[in-house]
Order: sequence, then C-alpha cells, then structure tokens
Amino acid sequence: MTRAEFSYASDSFKGDDESGNLRPRRLRLSASLRRLVTETDVIPRNLVMPIFVKEGQGIREKIDSMPGIFRLSPDEMLDREISEISSAGINSVLVFGLPNRKDAFGSEAFNDNGIVQQAVRRIKQNEPDIVVICDVCMCEYTDHGHCGILNQGGYVQNDVTIEYLGKIAVSQVRAGADIVAPSAMMDNQVLAIRRALDSNGFGETPIMAYSSKYASAFYGPFREAAGATPSFGDRKSYQMDPSNVREAMRETGIDVEQGADIIMVKPALAYLDVIRAVREKFDLPLAAYNVSGEYSMIKAASANGWINEEKVVDEVLHSIRRAGADIIISYFAKDYANRWNKS
Ligand code: PBG
Repeated sequence: MTRAEFSYASDSFKGDDESGNLRPRRLRLSASLRRLVTETDVIPRNLVMPIFVKEGQGIREKIDSMPGIFRLSPDEMLDREISEISSAGINSVLVFGLPNRKDAFGSEAFNDNGIVQQAVRRIKQNEPDIVVICDVCMCEYTDHGHCGILNQGGYVQNDVTIEYLGKIAVSQVRAGADIVAPSAMMDNQVLAIRRALDSNGFGETPIMAYSSKYASAFYGPFREAAGATPSFGDRKSYQMDPSNVREAMRETGIDVEQGADIIMVKPALAYLDVIRAVREKFDLPLAAYNVSGEYSMIKAASANGWINEEKVVDEVLHSIRRAGADIIISYFAKDYANRWNKS
C-alpha cells in the first residue's frame, strides 16, 4: 500500500499539534515502513531442526501426532532429509535415536555402533558443515523409559546416572557430534559430562545444557515419536515444577558454573517469562525448545482450518526470539526456513 492511498484529511487530521502528535500508527502505514522498524527477526541459521533416527533400512515412518515429521533410517532416507534441511539454510540438527534394543542401563545409548552414532557419522560424512547436536539422555534407551538408572524402589539414582551420561556423550562425540545436549535433568550432569569429555580428549566440544527443563505435558507427542514414555510414574522427581521460575535461575546458575556453553529453557511457549528471566540474568547463548506439543497443537488446529498455520508459526517463533532466545529448536525449522528464503 502506498502512502497516497491514505489520507488523513478525511479524518480531519490537523498535523502535529499539541493535541495529536503522538501517533504510533504512522510507522504502520505500509509494509515497507513496518519492515524498517522491525525489532525482532527469526533467521534460519539460528534455528535447529530435531530429527528422529531409527534402526533399519529404507524407513521413513510417519509420526501420527506430528504430521510432517518422520522417523528415518540412517541411509538415503536420512541423507535426503539432511540435504533438504541444509539447503533450506538451517545450520544445525538435534539428533534423537530409536534403538532396536532397550535395557535397564540404556546400553544402546553408549554403543559406538548405536543408532545415533551411525546417524552422526553419516551426517558428518555428507554434510560436514552442519552442526550436529546430540541429545544426551537415557529415556529412549531404557526398558522402563526413565531418564536414568533405577534403584530397587524405582527411584532414578542421580550419581550413577551422570556417569552413564558421561559415557553416552563421549560415544556421541567420538562418532562426530559437534555439541552434546544433556536433557536428563540429573544434578551435576554438566560437570560429569565435562569431565568425561575432557579426560577423553574432547576438551573442545561444547555442552548445550537443558538447564531449565520442566515436567511438561507438552512432551506428549515426542514420547510417541521416540517411544520414550515412562512405564510407571512420571518425571517430576527430576524435571522442574512448572510453577517455578526462581528455581530456573538456580538450575541455570549451576550449569553455567559447571561449564555449560549454551543454556536452554524448555518448553518455550508456556515459559516465555522464564526465557526472559534467564536472558536478563545470564550472558551465555540461550536456546529455547519449541517442543512437540507446541508443534502438534498448531498442526491440529490448522488441519481443522481453525488457524492459519504459517502466520501462527511466524508469530510463535518471533515471540520466542522476542522473549530473548538466541537459538530456537523447532520442528517448524525447515518449513519456516523455506518460507523465509522465498520472502
Ligand atoms: C529426553 C527428551 C524429551 C524431549 C527432549 N529430550 C522427552 C522428555 O523429557 O520426556 C522432549 C522434546 C519434545 O517434546 O519435543 N529426555
């Protein structure tokens, strides 16, 4: 729309007199004026695309609760997805694995030939410049679905678990991972992983810590996607209580002290205030995870014709950035980037 299409005259505009010169609408008059004063941008290179890899061949399996997202085998299926992601201008992927075999100790998670390790090698071979981040957790690998090692009573044991997390991280980095991202919410997991990496010659590998990860119902679709629902109980004895924000400062502070290189808030949308609070207190790069439930809600509403998916996604990603996140992990990353490239 051009300026000429508007006329203040008919609105009996009297100019910048005392009574009417505070007019924010002036800067909203046309698309180009609005662009000029844009405060927040979401750029593909700051987005991370999560991917699910599954053992087998020729697999590209739909995830019912997450339309548009697939479980891929570490072969041409994965190659194709990675090349799409990278040609969309996305710089980084976060890898989750679905092993064939689960046990009480999540052994497949630290098997040098495990599913994530295979996938990482394959990605780095084909697209060496893509930043490969590996989720360091046990819930996809344990037969009970909890994020650590249980005692007789079914309680997740902290100090045993962090030793395992260290082993997992080392194995992922040995396969070629550029960043490891501990998400188990065990105390001192960052320290244990830092020590394990350093003593194995990986002192240069950064840790992206899921510092404030809440016990959230928004992970529902992910648990279907990754087959990681706990077989009993819930994760409230390790993940954070959604009502707390001061506790997020404490958790983040501990991770920073223990050597985290990037900190995270997860989920994003119901926790924008936490993102803002962390941003104001800490200087490290801050990631926010726009989680599976946040993705599925938008997909479901748009499939019903109730909302405009693209506009809602733009709005949501901008809100996360506006709250203070530098990096956004989102299942919308690839679609958003493709759209951004055309705009
Ligand atoms: C592993 C892990 C989970 C998610 C990321 N890493 C599941 C959970 O904690 O239950 C959730 C991601 C999403 O919902 O998109 N612990």
